[in-house]
Amino acid sequence: MLESKSMTPQETEKYLRELKEWLDAVKDNPAEEMADFFAKRVAGYDENHLTHWPEEYAHIAGYLDDGLHNLLDIGCGTGLELESIYRRFPDAAVTGIDLSGPMLQKLREKYPDKDIKLIEADYFVCPFPESCYDAALSFETLHHFKPEKKQKIYEKLYRALKPDGYYLECDYIACCDEEERLCMEGYEYRRQRNNIPEDVFVHIDIPLTLPHQRELLQNAGFRQVDVLYQNGSTMIIKAVK
Ligand SMILES: C[S@@+](CC[C@H](N)C(=O)[O-])C[C@H]1O[C@@H](n2cnc3c(N)ncnc32)[C@H](O)[C@@H]1O
Repeated sequence: MLESKSMTPQETEKYLRELKEWLDAVKDNPAEEMADFFAKRVAGYDENHLTHWPEEYAHIAGYLDDGLHNLLDIGCGTGLELESIYRRFPDAAVTGIDLSGPMLQKLREKYPDKDIKLIEADYFVCPFPESCYDAALSFETLHHFKPEKKQKIYEKLYRALKPDGYYLECDYIACCDEEERLCMEGYEYRRQRNNIPEDVFVHIDIPLTLPHQRELLQNAGFRQVDVLYQNGSTMIIKAVK
């Protein structure tokens, strides 16, 4: 297990100051469509993400319960989180869903001999089987979506889990209402400026605060929601059915 590190008030203040400067610097950048964004970056993706979250990828399996057999990984990308999971559960049956064909192709090449079903689809649309999985996971994928979309996916994940199953989310969480608001304003501004139709996904971060996340998960039916780990703005949250 990893040791949690939260930000001190001084660190939070500095973080918000830098975030504002950054949001201002990128506000007129084009808004990139989600699947295109990852297709263009697939070559250096693993190296880049392993630099940012080396500990989280290496230890995510430690947050799963013993006896895992069926796992659903939404937004699985190239499967960085699966390396530690396969080390602990070599025979796990994994279903991975992702929008990006090139990201899934890289994952496929890594694990040719594993019991893995990969689905190239939008996880908001792709039907999930009911009461099927011991656990579900999302790693650094849901912070691009508004609360209404997240609510729907949490409801789908809830239904897809077996009784007493659980969902783990390792993701970017806003440190306060101000961060959530600033990111959302930047997102709306860039979508409008680039005339992005409502149904097109763009790669812009809109993290929610922990209370907001918790509310959505509880509304979806999860009976217990706990933060298992925090490193600055990265959290691992467990929601139990
Ligand atoms: C930052 S990557 C994370 C990949 C992997 N979980 C990891 O941590 O390395 C986000 C992934 O989510 C996928 N994604 C984003 N929105 C999606 C959606 N609506 N349906 C399916 N996949 C989606 C992207 O294609 C991308 O591969």
